[in-house]
Amino acid sequence: SAAEKGGYDYFMLKEIAEQPKAVADTLLGRIDAAGSLSLDEVRISAAELREVDKVVIVACGTAFHAGMIAKYAIEHWTRIPCEVELASEFRYRDPILDSRSLVIAISQSGETMDTLMALRHAREQGSRVLAICNTNGSTIPRESDAVLYTHAGPEVAVASTKAFLTQLVACYLVALYLGQVRGTKWGDEIRAVIRDLSQIAGAVDRVLETMEPVRELARSLAGKDTVLFLGRHVGYPVALEGALKLKELAYMHAEGFAAGELKHGPIALIEEDLPVVVVVPSPRGRSVLHDKIVSNIQEIRARGARTIVIAEEGDEAVTPYADHLVRIPATPVLLQPLVATVPLQVFACELATARGNEVDQPRNLAKSVTVE
Ligand code: G6P
Repeated sequence: SAAEKGGYDYFMLKEIAEQPKAVADTLLGRIDAAGSLSLDEVRISAAELREVDKVVIVACGTAFHAGMIAKYAIEHWTRIPCEVELASEFRYRDPILDSRSLVIAISQSGETMDTLMALRHAREQGSRVLAICNTNGSTIPRESDAVLYTHAGPEVAVASTKAFLTQLVACYLVALYLGQVRGTKWGDEIRAVIRDLSQIAGAVDRVLETMEPVRELARSLAGKDTVLFLGRHVGYPVALEGALKLKELAYMHAEGFAAGELKHGPIALIEEDLPVVVVVPSPRGRSVLHDKIVSNIQEIRARGARTIVIAEEGDEAVTPYADHLVRIPATPVLLQPLVATVPLQVFACELATARGNEVDQPRNLAKSVTVE
């Protein structure tokens, strides 16, 4: 009913708008007064976490993209090798696991059969399993050794939005917590990022306030067949997520690529007026990557692409090459997906509406897939 949708036309719009609160709620009570993380609810002892020599993340769909981003954070802040794998592929390749492996299963519903089977397999090998889940008491957390709940509230729209942002928050918390518990040379950075994370809901809110041009752009592209997405570093999974949203909602051919791979194949797809969304890393921090992406934008534009550039406020290097420029607030490099994903959600939702598609219940999809 209209009341359930809180005055929005679709649950998805409501859920996109709820993201600042979902993010804040997922952080609530997990950062103490001294600015350290307190995750006692994760019932795996600090001593055990210090023994972990490998992290393996399993998930499906949008949750898999959260896992891909988590890998960058976990390896950077903890120096523990981290793999991320589609849950449906995991157990069938006889993965190498033992009691020192920490397996993280990410699932909004907690009922996805592929993910459940992957975690059962991990536990049979003696690994500890930590669930990141949005649904209290669901099967995946019940069968895991520990759970860190995301507090997105119920997500009704099939295409995941607020659950994804909270999965990212939970992944960052786990990565930072592992770093904190194990003590790495990144101690100061970890403390600074925890501070920035505690402010990030405001940045998500600011993105939401500036989305009208994105909606307008989406409507103007309703007749297109294909949209490509490029990103690098944590912007690569964001590009994949942007493409997934467009497939799910607009039923368009959409593909995400690592921008560095462009020259190894995808650049052959570029033709006159093809929309290409580029997620630009912060010019601060890993600025080498920033410069490389700016070259990519120039390359594809020279071949006729219509460039839709998502870049940090104040990043002027991209301006001459952007046919459409979407600004996002500056964040620490690893946290950028929390703000960069939002315009892509809005873009896909508006395109779906413009194409007359059912936003909350896309054809052929289910909110949670309880068969393998
Ligand atoms: C389904 C949904 C996707 C979701 C995936 C994983 O395919 O349509 O939106 O990302 O399942 O769901 P989970 O509940 O495990 O996060």
